[in-house]
Amino acid sequence: MPVKILMVCLGNICRSPLAEGILQAKLPVDKFKVDSAGTGNWHSGEKPDKRSIETAKNHGIDISKQRARQFKVSDFENFDYIYAMDMSNYKNILALAPNEQAKEKVNLILNELFSNENVEVPDPYYGGLNGFEQVYQMLDDACTKIASKLA
Ligand code: 4NP
Repeated sequence: MPVKILMVCLGNICRSPLAEGILQAKLPVDKFKVDSAGTGNWHSGEKPDKRSIETAKNHGIDISKQRARQFKVSDFENFDYIYAMDMSNYKNILALAPNEQAKEKVNLILNELFSNENVEVPDPYYGGLNGFEQVYQMLDDACTKIASKLA
């Protein structure tokens, strides 16, 4: 059984698609399943934001085939680790958790780097391409840590 990891942001078009692509590239595909979702449903079915696709491509990662979907309660059963990008996502996910075991699967992704500091991955949606590159670097560092912990 592969270890299953879910990356979650608000729209599932900017941050969590990057996190999915970055972590996937660091783990053996046969032993790990990495997916992403958004707490909101406005972008369901859409490709990642062009700026996320371009930023990932600049680093040799293709995220263009991903499609956005909304986080659902069954994700608590289907995933072992659920990483939220910011506190708002984190609270919205916890509010859907059916029990304590489900809550224990959820963490802020940057707490893997800075334990208990609750540092957030900023939403780059309303900024420029530079913000996407900054998000990429934060997620790359966090995913290196996650991959070394799980692999
Ligand atoms: P994401 O960014 O949560 O990183 O995918 C956003 C994308 C779209 C919106 C908000 C955040 N939006 O409001 O449409």
